Amino acid sequence: MEFDELVAVAWEAREMAYAPYSKFAVGAALLSADGRIFRGCNVENLSYGLTQCAERTAICAAVAAGVRDFVMLAVVADTAVPISPCGACRQVMAEFGVPRVILANRASRLEFSLEELLPRSSAGILDRDE
Ligand code: THU
Repeated sequence: MEFDELVAVAWEAREMAYAPYSKFAVGAALLSADGRIFRGCNVENLSYGLTQCAERTAICAAVAAGVRDFVMLAVVADTAVPISPCGACRQVMAEFGVPRVILANRASRLEFSLEELLPRSSAGILDRDE
């Protein structure tokens, strides 16, 4: 699986975004260890706080399908600089150990490890050591 292919699926997923309030469409594509790709888009709500980001939509779709072992997550938006996942999504990525994250706009892409995006995500909690 090449980056290009995963990013292309994320752009497709973005077409499904339900973003009538922000008008800001985000797409995500999550590659699992067994080679499957799970799609996500943002799903907004009139009660704004209920909005689900594209990243969490993709992770929840995978988990609901019984898949919890991930390789890489691509996130795309039509922005001037590549999008940056919110803190809540970073914490959910940490919960399932999404190891690599690609952030892309139309022109460029950045790659981060989970540790770069959210250092010490679980240290100390319930006596975890990392
Ligand atoms: N959003 C995402 O889906 N992912 C991100 O990484 C950042 C923000 C969504 C949430 C909301 O629907 C819209 O973008 C504006 O914040």
